[in-house]
Amino acid sequence: MADLERGTGGLTRRDLLKGTLLLGGGLLAASDSLAQIVRGKPKSNEIFHLNLTARPMSFPILPGEATQTWSYEGTYLSGIAAPRAGYLGPILRVKRDAYLTVDFTNLLPEETTVHWHGLDVPAIMDGHPMMAVAPGQKFNFAFRMLNRGGTYWFHPHPHMRTAYQVMMGMAGVLVVEDPAETGLNLPSGSRDRVYVIQDRTFDAQNQWSYNPGGAGGFLGTRIVINGQVEVVEEVGTAVYRLRFLNGSNTRIYKLGWSNGMPMTVIAGDHGLLTAPRQLPYVMLSPGERVEIWADFREVPLGQVVTLQSQTFDPGWTGGPATLPQGYYCHLMDFRVAQALQDTRTLPATLSKIEPYRLEDATNQSNPRVISITRASAQWLLNGAPYGLYDILPNEIVPRGELQVWEFRNDTGMNIMAHPMHLHSAPFQILDRTTLPAFQTYYDTVKLGLVDEGWKDTFLIMPGQRVRILTKFPNFTGRFLYHCHNLEHEDMGMMRNFDIV
Ligand code: C2O
Ligand code: CU
Ligand code: CU
Repeated sequence: MADLERGTGGLTRRDLLKGTLLLGGGLLAASDSLAQIVRGKPKSNEIFHLNLTARPMSFPILPGEATQTWSYEGTYLSGIAAPRAGYLGPILRVKRDAYLTVDFTNLLPEETTVHWHGLDVPAIMDGHPMMAVAPGQKFNFAFRMLNRGGTYWFHPHPHMRTAYQVMMGMAGVLVVEDPAETGLNLPSGSRDRVYVIQDRTFDAQNQWSYNPGGAGGFLGTRIVINGQVEVVEEVGTAVYRLRFLNGSNTRIYKLGWSNGMPMTVIAGDHGLLTAPRQLPYVMLSPGERVEIWADFREVPLGQVVTLQSQTFDPGWTGGPATLPQGYYCHLMDFRVAQALQDTRTLPATLSKIEPYRLEDATNQSNPRVISITRASAQWLLNGAPYGLYDILPNEIVPRGELQVWEFRNDTGMNIMAHPMHLHSAPFQILDRTTLPAFQTYYDTVKLGLVDEGWKDTFLIMPGQRVRILTKFPNFTGRFLYHCHNLEHEDMGMMRNFDIV
């Protein structure tokens, strides 16, 4: 019974399509299938309904010709267009516990899916490549927002085409608003801003120039923030809550302020940390999010503070690039243009997070090992490439069981940094160990890793082992774990896992 309420309960895709078709007709007539999807009956005021279309579009980015993109377009049921960020899709703000229905239409010339990165949703709603939507077809998503407040995102996940579609412009942000945050007096409204950081290469006609690269993946030559180049944001002498998402395929950022202000981190992938952290810089690898308390109150009026990506040494990067991994980049400028009154103080305590304990893990001395390997110029996990329907015995995980997983990035000849990502519920990072021969690379990033709080993606440096504590309390079914270097993902550095 619990499975029927919480899992996909053995529903076939056809059953679900039937169920979601009913959804399109009105949520109030909830069918049995719907009940399995959303767990309980929605109150009408908690329903968030969006039409989402993936289609070719074009946006002016550089002076001159507009850039042809593939983009998401969102329209609320009320007919109002959701605010977008250039070629990127809508920035959605949804309340925790709300019921989402998203009527998705694929108007791209190839199949796609929509994956809700970081959201704890039923397997059938997770945008698994198995659920590909053909050109011209629709899929209706319906799920409840179980996640805590935080900055999440959505992007395509079709088999071997994720990197290409994201590079074309397909990504959007979903901010979950949480009543648990009220009372903290964090900056809100126009002082709560979202920035998606990407790198791209343009050809002479201002069009995307994309080369998936070799072992390393795609590294662009230009920084694009929310779909624009050379971004200058106006701020006042006040505190801002800046949410950053690394939406790049391969590039890892080492975020720092040009004027030496600390990076005051208040949140990671899944919302607020227990307490703020003041770091000299923050590492942000593809797929990760971080929220910064940016205090411009002491900055003289008229001054510009630059957000930069500082130099670091990633180790082997898989080949040459025009702007290599780990090189300095100018990301965006904040111009302090207005005198404002702001007396807020940084809260000492931000949220409660119950720490998982290794001694509670069912496999505490026998971790589930995931080795990053490479064979025949292909990145693999435990020596196996991705197969749409492949599952190995060690990829079956009991729902609700606390387990320790150990990622190993220390075997073979070609060892490089990878952002590793798990679908379904978030995890906690237990510890990292680094082989002495690789310590020099780690030393260039280690002060900026936000390993606290709830994570869904983490950077594993070369020569490292990272142990994480996982638990998937809510849904059964087939999910994915993979490298969020999207070229690596597409070349097979991804596997299914089944929660049973
Ligand atoms: Cu954002 Cu499976 O990925
Ligand atoms: Cu994901
Ligand atoms: Cu990788």
